[in-house]
Amino acid sequence: MLRRAGLLVTLGLAGLPVALSPQPPGGAEGASSNLSPDDRAEALLARMSLDEKLQLLHGALTEYNPGPLGTAGYIPGIARLGVPALHFADGSVGAGNQVGQATALPSSIASAATWDPALAYDYGWVIGHQLRAYGINANLGGNVNLAGREPRCGRTFEMKGEDPLLAGRITAAHVRAIQDQGVIGCLKHFALNDQETGRFTADVRISERGARESDLLAFEIALRESDAQSVMCSYNLVGGVYACENSWLLNEVLKGEWGFRGFVMSDWYATHSSVKAALAGLDQEQPGGSFFGGQRDRSLKDAVLDGSLPEARLNDMARRVLRALFAVGLFEQAGVRAPLDLAKSEAIAQRVAEEGSVLLVNHGLLPLDAGSLRSIAMIGGHADAAVLTGGGSAQVIPTGGPALWFSAPCPPCWGAIVWAPSSPLRAIRALAPGAGVQFHTGEDTRAAAALARRSDVAIVFAAEWQSEGMDLPSLTLSGQQDDLIHAVIDANPRTVVVLESGGAQLMSWTSGAGPALAARERRKNPNAPWVHGAAAVLAAWYPGQRGAEAIANILFGAVNPSGKLPLTVPLSESDLPHPVIAAPPPGSQEPFPVHYHEGFLAGYKWFDSRGIEPLFPFGYGLSYTVFEFSGLQLQWLDAAPARRRLAVSFEVANTGPRAGAEVAQVYLGLPPEAGEPPKRLAGWEKIRLQPGERRRVTIEIDERDASHPFSVWSEARRQWVTPPGEYTVFAGNHSGKRGLKLSARFRLE
Ligand code: BGC
Repeated sequence: MLRRAGLLVTLGLAGLPVALSPQPPGGAEGASSNLSPDDRAEALLARMSLDEKLQLLHGALTEYNPGPLGTAGYIPGIARLGVPALHFADGSVGAGNQVGQATALPSSIASAATWDPALAYDYGWVIGHQLRAYGINANLGGNVNLAGREPRCGRTFEMKGEDPLLAGRITAAHVRAIQDQGVIGCLKHFALNDQETGRFTADVRISERGARESDLLAFEIALRESDAQSVMCSYNLVGGVYACENSWLLNEVLKGEWGFRGFVMSDWYATHSSVKAALAGLDQEQPGGSFFGGQRDRSLKDAVLDGSLPEARLNDMARRVLRALFAVGLFEQAGVRAPLDLAKSEAIAQRVAEEGSVLLVNHGLLPLDAGSLRSIAMIGGHADAAVLTGGGSAQVIPTGGPALWFSAPCPPCWGAIVWAPSSPLRAIRALAPGAGVQFHTGEDTRAAAALARRSDVAIVFAAEWQSEGMDLPSLTLSGQQDDLIHAVIDANPRTVVVLESGGAQLMSWTSGAGPALAARERRKNPNAPWVHGAAAVLAAWYPGQRGAEAIANILFGAVNPSGKLPLTVPLSESDLPHPVIAAPPPGSQEPFPVHYHEGFLAGYKWFDSRGIEPLFPFGYGLSYTVFEFSGLQLQWLDAAPARRRLAVSFEVANTGPRAGAEVAQVYLGLPPEAGEPPKRLAGWEKIRLQPGERRRVTIEIDERDASHPFSVWSEARRQWVTPPGEYTVFAGNHSGKRGLKLSARFRLE
């Protein structure tokens, strides 16, 4: 992969981009037009030579030519026709590292944990806006691979959780906002790219129904709700065929059934052929042109000239790229850079961290009362200086530069463990000015415990780094972190644990001992996890560069937590569909099978259908106030088959002492004969209520939605079908047994 320091032509103070004055859009096609993007693309295509078309179909980067803006991908423009150059940069959790410094947002998984599509739109705005400010017009974010299928996946922090509806909807909000900023949005990695172990050769085996109702469904929803103009095919194989030359995935499902009209680009170096891939539906090779340009296979040009690639297909490929440019308005906006609004970006970053942090445990210790605390011990996780960020191509270089980095230099940051400049110690001192707040690194467990013992409250930070290119060896916290937490809790039961991680962590006493010992421990004592000893646990994810302020606001009650888990936290890895990750034989470069035998039972659907209690269920999260659900009613707004719309309504009351937000969740159980999990998320709404306030919430379940809420994929009929029988609607505030207090049934014939 090409990894470059953030080389930017136009740099302002501190490496941030400065506003350029708008340049006039070039060429006749730049003039605004009433024609549709398709018509404009068609008209322009008719004026292009074969070479000009080919130019749009592969990146122009080589190891020695990183492109004028130092980006991950670059396609030169065609000045004669006013076609702007395409500059591609990553950006799943903030504008990607290739362009320079940018606001480090909380992880995408935190955005999903807000369960707030409007706030997810703001999140996408920050990415689109900052890319735009850097002159980037194509984003490589939009990671909608399912997070829970392989919870150890090193890219979980880029994803949006384990449920296709939640993941699809949150990703769609990001992409819509990015495209509204005049940057081509992307959905990736298509498809079933759910683990990093053997990521170039993993050959995913899954039933068609399993795929359609899980990973593909997330893409289907994200695409329908965002109109993303690009899709990135993944490195792995699906059913024995590389994703970037998989005609079933690209031609049949994506372009055929879902009607995708933008272009499919390869993941970086994910191509294995020229003509075969082009015929299978790949439109653009990245980052160079080794196949499409012809160094390693017959070039597309030769193939067109000798008739083995129909010219119509070549035109279709180029038309799709042009169409994306028109759809997002790139002709009108060529060269226009918006001035950077850092204050607004950082305010959004903080809000996402505040709304997306999930309070998992609270035995009455939180919120802390600053007035009555004399001493606070802060321990571990570099909490004196920084918060952790996720690594790989999604790595953001925080504005102001990283506070700390390890393993590799930053910049360029590839392979580095990067900490964003946001100090929990400083943020907590600001909120508790009367208390003595002391920090201990946690390296010496006994000294840290001693500090905890003589303090009124201890706050211990555990941080687990993850990155593209690796999976976590296990969900147990690495190093001595479990032991440290254990020791601090033993020393002072008034201990808050703050987790900074990209996904689920085990909360077991038995650190470093591995899953086998943890499982034995659990058999001896089902209450073994340390989580039962902590007075409070807050999952802050990678909280971004305003994360410290958000954590402090939650701990001291300036913000009432309202984040909900977008993934299941298991009690033990032995409870997962894959207790061990499938890996290739050592040293092998050959494809190796990865059997997703669980099919669509990813995440909570697996736990539910096997009757396994997780540590914390999907959708779970505590608040400082109390919400009560009552009065469930069902009403058909339209009962006609194929148009069914069901209104599910119920009352939510804030019966506690504080204003707060609750995520009212609706799940649907299909008839038992359908062979589905006991329930599937069907909708939700995040509502904000004052103390004593109550409101009737109505959530519509619409058969025409991309989520196919009443249906299952029929392999026999190769379409979605609605099984007859008895359906159950559940409502409440998490997917666990105690979360869904309301239920009602209806029949469909
Ligand atoms: C990643 C993509 C990324 C690309 C460009 C690849 O390694 O898998 O997600 O967009 O690099 O940086």
